[in-house]
Amino acid sequence: MLRRLHPEQPDSFAFTPANRAWAEAQMTRYPEGRQASAIIPILWRAQEQEGWLTRPAIEHVADMLGMPYMRALEVATFYFMFQLQPVGSVAHVQVCGTLSCMICGAEDLIGICREKIAKKPHVLSEDGRFSWEEVECLGSCTNAPMVQIGKDYYEDLTAERFIEILDELAAGKVPVPGPQNGRHGAEPLGGLTTLTAHDKDRMPMNGSVTRAVELGDTVKRIDGSEVWRTPRSTAPCAAG
Ligand code: FES
Repeated sequence: MLRRLHPEQPDSFAFTPANRAWAEAQMTRYPEGRQASAIIPILWRAQEQEGWLTRPAIEHVADMLGMPYMRALEVATFYFMFQLQPVGSVAHVQVCGTLSCMICGAEDLIGICREKIAKKPHVLSEDGRFSWEEVECLGSCTNAPMVQIGKDYYEDLTAERFIEILDELAAGKVPVPGPQNGRHGAEPLGGLTTLTAHDKDRMPMNGSVTRAVELGDTVKRIDGSEVWRTPRSTAPCAAG
């Protein structure tokens, strides 16, 4: 698939002060002269800030890393995780259309996206709040069919539940991610058949969902207030 920059671009891009500090910290992870190695996380942060990756953002990141614009454009256009066109201001829905999900109902989910969001992928809904695309396997095949919204997975979907999720998002709510059919994780629908001793002390929701609910950032753009992780030290490891 040919990936091009969107024909309409903003005039400029600048990181928020917090995101700029985060990006500069990423650059310190690499030896002097190898700062271009930080391009993927920094482009990603630019996308998270703006929702999509604009030409001024790509060029801004290239300037930060001392790279020719062409090399930064090559990275941005190669990886499908980079959105080269505007996405919905509330949610961009990524529907898995690979084997397990397709067998279990992905086509219904895509049909709902066409009906409720836009007929074609990568096109904004009329109100500009939603967009969607079909993506390759997201690694949650045992919980097919599933979609990724923001940072989280909504799994074990039915058409009815997916419609409800879109409606909840449209109403300003953030539906709880994870399996939508009562499963804890990827165990059999009827309950654990092995390691059953773990059943009694497990948390009400699996670890990913618990964390997502705690952070509450499923559909939130990164504005510098997200959880800060200190970059790894670049000092040589004493233990070798
Ligand atoms: S096939 Fe959909 S997550 Fe793997």
